Amino acid sequence: MEQDVFLGDSPVRIVAIGAGNRTNKYLEYVRMHPDRLQLVGVVEVNANRMQRIAEEFKLDSNHCFADYNDFFAHPLPADAVLIATPENLHYDPCIKAIEAGYHVLLEKPIAQTLEECNDIAVRAQRKGVLVGVCHVLRYHPYFMKIKEIVDSDELGAVISINHTASVGLDRSLHGFVRGLWSKEENTNPMLIAKCCHDIDLLLWLTRTPCKRLTSFGSLRWFRSENAPMNSSDRCINCHIEAKCPYSAVDLYYNRRDWISNFDIPEGRTLNEVLLEELRHGRYGRCVFHCDNDVVDHQILSMEMESGVTVNFSMDIFTSDDCRETHVKLTHGEIDGNEVRLRVRKFRDNEERVFDFSHISKKPFHAGADLKLVDDFVKALSCKEHKLRTSIENSVESHRICYEAERSRLTGKTIELGSYS
Ligand SMILES: NC(=O)c1ccc[n+]([C@@H]2O[C@H](COP(=O)([O-])OP(=O)(O)OC[C@H]3O[C@@H](n4cnc5c(N)ncnc54)[C@H](O)[C@@H]3O)[C@@H](O)[C@H]2O)c1
Repeated sequence: MEQDVFLGDSPVRIVAIGAGNRTNKYLEYVRMHPDRLQLVGVVEVNANRMQRIAEEFKLDSNHCFADYNDFFAHPLPADAVLIATPENLHYDPCIKAIEAGYHVLLEKPIAQTLEECNDIAVRAQRKGVLVGVCHVLRYHPYFMKIKEIVDSDELGAVISINHTASVGLDRSLHGFVRGLWSKEENTNPMLIAKCCHDIDLLLWLTRTPCKRLTSFGSLRWFRSENAPMNSSDRCINCHIEAKCPYSAVDLYYNRRDWISNFDIPEGRTLNEVLLEELRHGRYGRCVFHCDNDVVDHQILSMEMESGVTVNFSMDIFTSDDCRETHVKLTHGEIDGNEVRLRVRKFRDNEERVFDFSHISKKPFHAGADLKLVDDFVKALSCKEHKLRTSIENSVESHRICYEAERSRLTGKTIELGSYS
């Protein structure tokens, strides 16, 4: 049982840059532990969101900014900034925060190129500030259990791992076909945008650098040439909508799924906002007529320096949105799907099953989001407390994703030397 000890004598003061979905999750920690973390400012381009945060956390108007350059020009007394803007807006504010001497809690992915990622790590080290990347899986009870069993050596040495990230159709249509992560130039290749968590997890479990890798994948299905006959470019006026598994009308209007990011301005109803979006917004578009270019399936094989082999698969054509992991070790195996984790020893067929069904659908990534903030806050409050992972580790997992993309595009196996 982890002990929840806080050694700081005053709360860590933080400014949030980008006040959307992720920031709202992390701010739950401020709501729960105002004695440990205090929100002292916000930077947000969306006036409704900024006002909501300002009201809830009683921020003066001179602590609220629409442009982060204004914040850095008039810095507030604070210890850290949280950067949870879209990923094409990570690098610039992160560099500015580091140079201004703030510690940074940075949403993944770190940035948009390996050079930018590395630059952040180098500058943070030079300036002596902490940059924590939000790799939430490291704080998730299910993945922590896998790590604990692997590290205990009770099943011997890891020989190979199969790991699958089933992104789920609804999440994928919302984020990676119609949504903000659908175009590489605005975000990153899919493996980095969605799966840098998975690669970080695989490096964490294998505890060994990747020696070589190869990757395949493409955008195979959501392209205009695959649009069904008689379909239209908006689901709301499409003749085949009632039978289409990708219908935006069904996802947002009928099922009310993935709607938490639609702002409802004062005086308007959710139905009005949804209909407006379906008629004119990006989320009402036919999936075959979007401007998306990220892959819809990708596989990656890695040989690690220790000789461990790893197979990873990212799939969006799945009903479930979950990760499945199968670790094969010299004396047994571990396999699970985030709900159930099975541990089998070869000798005597000994088997243990851990049930995570009670937490698998719990909010905040089963509490991992809050543990991550707690780790960051404690690392700033107490010299002895070390963050669970370092910016250098995160850069290494991002490097693998960028190299996988190079392999996918060139069809070559990539040999990885050490990065400098
Ligand atoms: N760690 C995880 O598990 C996890 C999960 C989902 C998303 N993410 C990452 O978190 C980041 C944010 O994602 P999100 O889902 O919160 O997105 P979001 O769209 O809900 O929030 C982003 C916010 O940034 C604001 N913004 C945009 N440009 C800005 C600017 N120039 N200055 C200030 N604010 C600006 C937007 O208005 C929005 O409110 C992304 O990098 C994403 O990849 C991480």
